[in-house]
Amino acid sequence: MGQNTNSRHRRNIVFRLLKAIQASGKKVFQTVEGTTNAMFGPENNPLYYLGAMTFFFLYILLISGIYIYIFYDTEVTGAYASVEYLTHTQWYLGGIMRSLHRYASDAMIVTMILHLLRRFFNDRFNGARSFSWITGVPMLWLVLITGLLGYLLVWDKLAQFIAVHTAEWVDWLPIIAEPVARNFLTNGGMTNSLFRLLVVTHLGVPLFLLAAMLLHTNRLHQPKVNLPRPLAVGTIVSLLVLAIIHPAVSQAPANLAVAPGRLHLDWFYMAVYPLMDTWSAGAVWALIGGGTIFMMLLPWLPPKRRDPAAVVDLTQCSGCNLCVMDCPYEAIRLELRTDGHPRFIHEARVIEDKCVSCGICTGSCPFSTPFRHTQKLASAIEMPHADMQHLRDITSTALQELSGERRVIVFGCDHSMDITKLGHACVVGVRLECIGMLPPSLIDYALRHGADGVFVTGCRMGDCFHRLGNKWTQQRLNDERKPLLPRKVARDRVKFFMAVEADRKTLLRELDAFCHVLSAPLTREKQVHVGEGGKGA
Ligand code: HEM
Ligand code: SF4
Ligand code: SF4
Repeated sequence: MGQNTNSRHRRNIVFRLLKAIQASGKKVFQTVEGTTNAMFGPENNPLYYLGAMTFFFLYILLISGIYIYIFYDTEVTGAYASVEYLTHTQWYLGGIMRSLHRYASDAMIVTMILHLLRRFFNDRFNGARSFSWITGVPMLWLVLITGLLGYLLVWDKLAQFIAVHTAEWVDWLPIIAEPVARNFLTNGGMTNSLFRLLVVTHLGVPLFLLAAMLLHTNRLHQPKVNLPRPLAVGTIVSLLVLAIIHPAVSQAPANLAVAPGRLHLDWFYMAVYPLMDTWSAGAVWALIGGGTIFMMLLPWLPPKRRDPAAVVDLTQCSGCNLCVMDCPYEAIRLELRTDGHPRFIHEARVIEDKCVSCGICTGSCPFSTPFRHTQKLASAIEMPHADMQHLRDITSTALQELSGERRVIVFGCDHSMDITKLGHACVVGVRLECIGMLPPSLIDYALRHGADGVFVTGCRMGDCFHRLGNKWTQQRLNDERKPLLPRKVARDRVKFFMAVEADRKTLLRELDAFCHVLSAPLTREKQVHVGEGGKGA
């Protein structure tokens, strides 16, 4: 009993520590992203495209790698000279390709780690996302192994250092009968066939990586795998400039008879190597193996209370496909009707395992309307814990709380900022799991039942916690995506302004300005006013 309490106590401390790390990391990212938004705009913000950037660097690696391979000598005796030829004699193309290969692989590590940290800090790695997380962990290994093998192929002093240290480290494992380090005791130990094996492995591992990358994004709807053109051009130009002003060069040729002296390590790939000098091989295995296992378990630590999955009501569903197109997690399928409906051929079917209960499908469904006069409101697809009746009830309660000259209702999401504490006299907030859950007809409802204005907010554009919720909402309010905001709603009574906690002051200013606009006579604007926080805020 006492032991159980102790271990629960220890677990609580770990969870609280993890939460504190997440909160601080999130704050740092939000602040930096505010600046990068101001510099590049949300549509080209590199921090919103870290996964796609990692893909992009792999493409550069594949193209530059093919070029290098044309001139590369796969024999251990000629490898170094062939790389030297590319670097110095053919510096104008071969040298640039080599540098692009080197810098793209470093950049790939940076974007991959930032991508990982960002998912972790923003709590976007569990539930349905745990599949992407778990497939991501082996990708870390595949990238590191490919990079280290690449360094070996230069067969210079750095390659010698990596070969000897890695072999000694691997030999610690009891699974290999013949010590690998024996191959690196003398120059004769490194044979051409062993060297070719390293070359083939360096070329083969990226194929697994490509396959893993496709699997990694398999469960996401419209994953951001391609960079917008300005970002792609900017990235390649930066790499080219770096390649020209600071070309990648080799260190002295490998000589297994002489221990390497001073070396320039690539810290992106070799940060763990100096540890091997001070720690035992077993301790380094424990660190790396333990770290990998911890990462694999992370989506289940702490176990999250899961809201129930979305539920389809066949008596309402017409099989219109809108929810299928909007679900960010591919959790809804359109299937043949099972109830023999005389008019409709298809019905929506939720795949419970993939559903994260974001509620975006409720916002997509044309039957999600608060205006029905049935005994109990019901939509064709809703969240059992937050159905249409509940959405109307919380909106009505909020409307009753409004007082003052200008009454504004703010619809926001659970993941951007706490809109229930805006400290604004004539404003009341209604929180949804995702802003994409808001049916446009609920805005109409709020305006007809006492609100002078509706302020819609959520995560910054380009970075929705539920991936696509803010984008769909913006399109619905802009008359670009169904269900549309009803035509009769005066557009200047609605404001769409995306902001996170770091943009609180800007959001409050925008709210003030909105209240001011509401005091003036309506101008019958055709478009909802769209704004964005985090532009240097
Ligand atoms: C070669 C390395 C990697 C590449 C190219 C890559 C690429 C991507 C891309 C393109 C997405 C979709 C992003 C979006 O549409 O919002 C994604 C999502 C994701 N990645 Fe990676 N990734 C890599 C490594 C990792 C690693 C190491 C982890 C963590 C261990 C990870 C965790 C995730 C998670 C959890 C998601 C889902 C995020 C969400 O739904 O918001 N990835 N990745
Ligand atoms: S709540 Fe709806 S939109 Fe969200 S994941 Fe589940 S089925 Fe998809
Ligand atoms: S949006 Fe609504 S009506 Fe259309 S398929 Fe989905 S559940 Fe059915």
